[in-house]
Amino acid sequence: MKTIWNFTGARALVAGAGGIGSAVTEALADAGADVVVLDRDPAGLAGLARTGTEKAGGTVRGLNTDLTSAGACRDAVADAVGYLGGLDVFVHAVGANDRRPVLETPDEVWERIVAINLSSAFWLGRAVGEVMVPGGYGRVVYLSSVSGLLAHRDHAPYAATKGGVNQLMRVMAREWAPHGVTVNAVAPGYTETDLTRAYLAKPGMRASMEALVPAGRLGRPGDLVGPALFLASPEAAFVTGQVLYADGGRTLV
Ligand SMILES: NC(=O)c1ccc[n+]([C@@H]2O[C@H](COP(=O)([O-])OP(=O)(O)OC[C@H]3O[C@@H](n4cnc5c(N)ncnc54)[C@H](O)[C@@H]3O)[C@@H](O)[C@H]2O)c1
Repeated sequence: MKTIWNFTGARALVAGAGGIGSAVTEALADAGADVVVLDRDPAGLAGLARTGTEKAGGTVRGLNTDLTSAGACRDAVADAVGYLGGLDVFVHAVGANDRRPVLETPDEVWERIVAINLSSAFWLGRAVGEVMVPGGYGRVVYLSSVSGLLAHRDHAPYAATKGGVNQLMRVMAREWAPHGVTVNAVAPGYTETDLTRAYLAKPGMRASMEALVPAGRLGRPGDLVGPALFLASPEAAFVTGQVLYADGGRTLV
């Protein structure tokens, strides 16, 4: 694919081979990066894998892992760093949601959403920082959400974890700024991926969600690529601790 980005020689780790993680992985590889992508779903990983000889640009290698434990996250980063020979870029694009009122949210739902959305952000980010900080360079990008700012009903664990990711990101940004490592977040509005597919299929839901967006449409995975790659690029050296809303104006209204 034609790209304005140049990530030739960059070593990137992307957690999440879903709609947004796949789009970012392909864009990084198209721009020349070698990418390791993590997911628990082998089908998503298989679709992304490529060698440098198959397509122009860099390589993509999938690593099948469940990221809901500290040990799995640490091992995944160690594997990726060993394979890539270092790490320049980390993008956290795993996530899950479970829509229900607070009073109908059992402990296991809370714990599952916190583990994948927030704890994996800490465990992976910490392991990535252990490589990037001593190395004196790094770009970390978290996928947050408009739900980290707005109080959507039926989103308690999801919203809490996205607000948590924003603050985790800001503290990492402050601690790692002296070491050439920036940490930022991209916050999408409603985007058409597996995460939202069943919800949008409910009668009237798509139209009511679109009506909330000044741009008049929902997001597509490609809408997040430019914001994520900018923050992952050397050009974003003086941008850190920021949440970049890519939401068609959803948070303006
Ligand atoms: N789609 C949206 O509307 C939207 C809006 C705002 C923020 N986001 C955020 O963007 C990020 C990517 O979302 P998406 O839309 O691509 O979702 P998606 O459902 O398409 O992809 C999420 C991926 O995470 C993987 N995953 C889930 N649990 C895992 C686990 N325990 N271990 C390893 N992998 C696991 C899934 O297999 C899937 O491939 C998430 O952080 C999400 O919260 C999405």
